[in-house]
Amino acid sequence: MSTHRTPQRLPKMLAVIVVVLAVVAAGCQPTVRVRGLGAQPGGGLVEAPAPASLLPAAKPSAQRGRQVFEKACFPCHGNEGLGDGPAAQTLTAPHKNPMTDFFGMFGMKLAGEKLPSRPANFHNQVAMRLNAPFTMVETISLGRPHTAMPSFGPKIAYGANRGIPALTTQEIWDVMFYEWSFATTPQIVALGRRLYNERTLDIGNGRSATCADCHGTAGDGRGGQLSSEMAARVWGWKQQASPGIFTNVNLMAQRKPSELFQSILNGHGPMPGYRGKLTEDEIWALVDYLWTFVYEWRPARGQRP
Ligand code: HEC
Ligand code: HEC
Repeated sequence: MSTHRTPQRLPKMLAVIVVVLAVVAAGCQPTVRVRGLGAQPGGGLVEAPAPASLLPAAKPSAQRGRQVFEKACFPCHGNEGLGDGPAAQTLTAPHKNPMTDFFGMFGMKLAGEKLPSRPANFHNQVAMRLNAPFTMVETISLGRPHTAMPSFGPKIAYGANRGIPALTTQEIWDVMFYEWSFATTPQIVALGRRLYNERTLDIGNGRSATCADCHGTAGDGRGGQLSSEMAARVWGWKQQASPGIFTNVNLMAQRKPSELFQSILNGHGPMPGYRGKLTEDEIWALVDYLWTFVYEWRPARGQRP
């Protein structure tokens, strides 16, 4: 009999243990809303538009963003985005967690050792190539729990500090893309622009084309000699919201530079891969140039045009 009952009980007990662990784990984790902003934790594509209130009303502008940056972000990130602002060396992470909060209700302070918190350096290409614009918007908006990066949006992540001043959605997008512009240079963007419009490469079936021949000089999938063919094959009526329509901010903001790099290297749908036809540096220059279809790019402070 007992051998008969054990296999039935075991799953139940396991289920109870899993539920208890899940509740404990949920209680200990600071929740950061990733999905609400349209980005997926795995970096996957969400074609559904993010709520209008989370998207910029006007095309983001690095120039406007610079003004915000030099008011609100420079103390930590430094005027040139190197993470070396006047406050950078003294920053510590806030000690907020459910335990400290709970004891705090009774006036007891659990003060741990203060941990240094170093501001991001936006010239760090390794880090920036793995960042999607939406993830950065989310960090700026909610703040980053348990680091000195404060929240500048209407909502604040649990465990984060409040930044001053509060910023509008448009200002957050402007300043995010200004930070983005530190990760490239005017020379790289110029190289990308040249390659995109002028480099004619083999696309198979005895044909050759530039990027602009399919994607359009304005990056909107229109006007190139092969654009209508692409529209007929893949873009169709969805033309403003398909991969390859670089002016669509909702779609592009979900992309990491590393993902765009992979698409160019290996190909994507009817687009051929460019492995062996373009160098890695040339592909990165193209990626940097593609972002300029989404925001009004300007050389960042400290960069020579
Ligand atoms: C009080 C200091 C402070 C201020 C002010 C501040 N930051 Fe930060 N920021 C940080 C720190 C510290 C980090 C690194 C967090 C970590 O360790 O993950 C950071 C990280 C970030 C990141 C994440 C970068 C990445 O690669 O993951 C973004 C984006 C960012 N800050 C944007 C801004 C913007 C925009 C402003 C101004 C509106 C701003 N920050 C103001 C301290 C600050
Ligand atoms: C023959 C036409 C054609 C040419 C030439 C072409 N592309 Fe594409 N490209 C497309 C199409 C169509 C898509 C969308 C494919 C899909 O939806 O699967 C695309 C997708 C992409 C993507 C992926 C976008 C995303 O959101 O994931 C990138 C990046 C890209 N192209 C960059 C380039 C660059 C850079 C060049 C020039 C070196 C180029 N393309 C040349 C047709 C082309």
